Amino acid sequence: MAELLDLASVDAVLSTARSVRRKLDFDRAVEPETIFECVNIATQAPTGLGGESWRFLVVTEPDRKRQLADLYRAVLTDLARQRGIEVKATQQALVDRLHEIPAMIFVCTTADKPGAEIAGQVAYYGSILPAAWSLMLALRARNLGATWTTLLASRQQEVAAILGMPDGVVQTVMLPVAYTKGAKLRKADRLDATHVTYWETWGNSNQG
Ligand SMILES: Cc1cc2nc3c(=O)[nH]c(=O)nc-3n(C[C@H](O)[C@H](O)[C@H](O)COP(=O)(O)O)c2cc1C
Repeated sequence: MAELLDLASVDAVLSTARSVRRKLDFDRAVEPETIFECVNIATQAPTGLGGESWRFLVVTEPDRKRQLADLYRAVLTDLARQRGIEVKATQQALVDRLHEIPAMIFVCTTADKPGAEIAGQVAYYGSILPAAWSLMLALRARNLGATWTTLLASRQQEVAAILGMPDGVVQTVMLPVAYTKGAKLRKADRLDATHVTYWETWGNSNQG
């Protein structure tokens, strides 16, 4: 007999894992058991490169979070200046309270770094980013808000120094995690599948 899944709930989680930067409960701790549960789901993601090279570094200590938040703010400010744009209000809201976030989860990999060729990069990032996204979905399913952030990826050495990461470990995505507080998470406005799907040859939108 085919396994029955509650499709409506599954699809809702998959479609509404929005970034939550403002409506977060900064005063409620996230239980380690809940994080373990989510990591156990994340590690069901596909993995190549000969095994499980993922590691999840959870940061809850105030002093360490403060140092990471300061670094994050510096990267964001530099980026906005370089691009001649203003930091968006939602991004500012997160950065203003990032040091207070109950948990920062760094999704790290210990795999050998790839060269410049595309296939190696696809295998490298493809062996870690699906786990990061599954983690985000598992959090979402438990009313935990997060944001997919990679600003700190440009500061590997500084982050490694703060977190005691040895050479060869790369941190990819950092999810700032907290319980949501009145956040209404909806589907994003995206192009319909018929606009982004081709059949048989590139550019052919006609099915069959
Ligand atoms: C590769 C990548 C890196 C991102 N890095 C950051 C980041 O460092 N900080 C941040 O606030 N948002 C970052 N974002 C944007 C958000 O995670 C989010 O995708 C965006 O705000 C759109 O919101 P939505 O996911 O709710 O549609 C990044 C998104 C992507 C795809």
